[in-house]
Amino acid sequence: MSRRPLIGTFRPPGDKSVSHRVALFSLLSEGSCSVGNYSHCADCASTLAAVALLGGGVAGEGGALRLRGAGGRLVAEADIDCGNSGTTMRMLQGILAGRRGVYRLRGDESLSRRPMERVAAPLRRMGAGVETTDGHAPVIVRGGPLTAIDYALPVASAQLKSALLLAGIQAAGTTRLREPAPSRDHSERLLTAWGARLWRDEQGALCIAPGALRMESLVAIPGDTSGAAFFACGAALVPGSDVVARDVLLNPSRTGWLEVLRRMGAAVECQAASEHPEPMGTIHVVHRGTLRGTEVPAGEIPNLVDEVPILAVAATQAVGTTVFREAAELRVKECDRLAAMEKELTRLGADIEVRGDTLVVRGPTPLRAPAEACESYGDHRIAMALRIASLLCDAPVEIRDEACAAVSYPNFAQTLTGLLAQEDP
Ligand code: S3P
Repeated sequence: MSRRPLIGTFRPPGDKSVSHRVALFSLLSEGSCSVGNYSHCADCASTLAAVALLGGGVAGEGGALRLRGAGGRLVAEADIDCGNSGTTMRMLQGILAGRRGVYRLRGDESLSRRPMERVAAPLRRMGAGVETTDGHAPVIVRGGPLTAIDYALPVASAQLKSALLLAGIQAAGTTRLREPAPSRDHSERLLTAWGARLWRDEQGALCIAPGALRMESLVAIPGDTSGAAFFACGAALVPGSDVVARDVLLNPSRTGWLEVLRRMGAAVECQAASEHPEPMGTIHVVHRGTLRGTEVPAGEIPNLVDEVPILAVAATQAVGTTVFREAAELRVKECDRLAAMEKELTRLGADIEVRGDTLVVRGPTPLRAPAEACESYGDHRIAMALRIASLLCDAPVEIRDEACAAVSYPNFAQTLTGLLAQEDP
């Protein structure tokens, strides 16, 4: 089977992380907001449904979403289905911890396996009643008055940090958060833009004072950089490829994957177009020959945590060894992504191994279609990474439950088909 290049321009859906935040923060905000390019993915639909259930104003959809802030005036009781979305479940805990009411948060099978004590424990210290089910969902939140804490986060997690910022803005006193490593900063940017008093102190700790939020009247959400990564990496791998992702989020706390791809020798160019509400612009990747292996130290993992699966695919085609060091957080995503990538890429013929929590890929290895279907484990990023890997295989590859890509990228298959259909320029 000849490898068809990826050629053309595409726009990924609105960024998932930014979409969640705009909708969830509206629960604590006054005012109203027209939201352009809100992600139409399943996770962000879970968030919108939760916001509406709790008393937020949600009208229209997709490109024409309109949010009316609830200003913290939420219903006193709710049973909320967070679906597959960890961001929804964790950030809601921070919001609801400060509201008088009783709330039950549940999720699908995958979400019910993910750790929730990391959020529940500090919220309890702030005065909220938060009960997990053996550390997992369902989670019951009994909200009320909160007191600020000075807290060292045990993991570099933007979801945890955001939950504590959302509780902190409702708490008496200044909440101070010390992070083991920086993680994506969308919450800091949006809370500040909507009027929060938030700063870094001399020790670098993140501080938030109590206060009110007011939404901006217009927010245009950039395209999802993590979604763009699949096609960008595909273009770096398949000869003849030339791909442009337009209107994509270029926030440096999310573009670690572009740096890694550059280090591997890929031809990647970014052009920034605007800065507000987030840096955004164009990513252009042209195939320019064989990649080389690289070292990804533990400190870089938080800024590319969602892109490790697709970067691992790229590493199978690179000369030499690529190492993703101490990537333990990947084990507690929608599935154990270290184990999943080791198993499925091995099935395709790659030389890949997990040592402790470090992922080691030796390349280049030819990939071949396995006799049996590949497993996505119901994890959208595994499904999409494997689909890009299949472009390098000698025959068609079947991927079980591939439709789970809709959790973050509903049009993934259509975009791929479109890019494969273009003629060489
Ligand atoms: C997210 C943070 C990341 C990421 C997830 C979305 C967010 O998780 O894996 O897909 O929007 O805050 P952690 O930073 O909590 O590990």
